[in-house]
Amino acid sequence: MKIVIVGASGTIGSAVSNLLANQHEIVRVGHSQGDALVDMTDGASIDALFEGIGPFDALVVASGNVAFAPLTELSDEQWQLGLESKLMGQIKLTRAAVPYLNEGGSVTLISGILSEEPIYWGVSATTINGAVEHFVKAAACELPKGLRINVVSPTVLTESMDKYSAFFPGFEPVPAARVALAYQKSVLGVQTGQVFRVNG
Ligand SMILES: NC(=O)c1ccc[n+]([C@@H]2O[C@H](COP(=O)([O-])OP(=O)(O)OC[C@H]3O[C@@H](n4cnc5c(N)ncnc54)[C@H](OP(=O)(O)O)[C@@H]3O)[C@@H](O)[C@H]2O)c1
Repeated sequence: MKIVIVGASGTIGSAVSNLLANQHEIVRVGHSQGDALVDMTDGASIDALFEGIGPFDALVVASGNVAFAPLTELSDEQWQLGLESKLMGQIKLTRAAVPYLNEGGSVTLISGILSEEPIYWGVSATTINGAVEHFVKAAACELPKGLRINVVSPTVLTESMDKYSAFFPGFEPVPAARVALAYQKSVLGVQTGQVFRVNG
């Protein structure tokens, strides 16, 4: 299978790349490094990415930014970051990938536990993650060519605890390798429209 991984250099993306590279051809895509580059907030950049890659079997996304700040202090620009990057970035990647995905192919997006369990400073992440999950539920009903779409929703990662532990009191972290298994289930399995939650 030819699998395009956007965010392949990241904590989650590198675990997914390592797991799937044993048996599949991986195209590692990043913003500043990789086999190919893209800015997921920019439609023209996304179009150029897929034009350069040509037909493939699975799109995996492990990237997308949101701002963390108190509700009463979040600026329009900070809200816009999550909307343009993690939400519309993933929607644009999905939409642009459709013509290049082979019959029976798949798309796997990323959300996160905050869609279900809010934390202080997490209102934008909760909103955006929830929207990504709802996009997947609806898009699964309309995708052509027998394409499937799912979203992986992990809790905080063990590898990220040095940065995020203060924001996630009482949350049990999981290693990125476990999150990679959820991506594997989405790419190689049969389900569509699902949220694969990876909790501690
Ligand atoms: N880490 C966690 O604990 C955790 C838990 C739940 C959910 N998540 C979600 O999982 C996703 C990935 O998190 P992570 O911690 O693995 O991230 P990360 O380690 O910071 O990696 C981010 C990846 O995204 C790429 N990227 C950055 N800006 C981009 C852009 N404009 N267009 C395309 N690609 C871009 C980076 O590419 P370059 O290296 O080339 O710049 C890198 O490969 C995020 O949406 C995050 O909210 C993370």
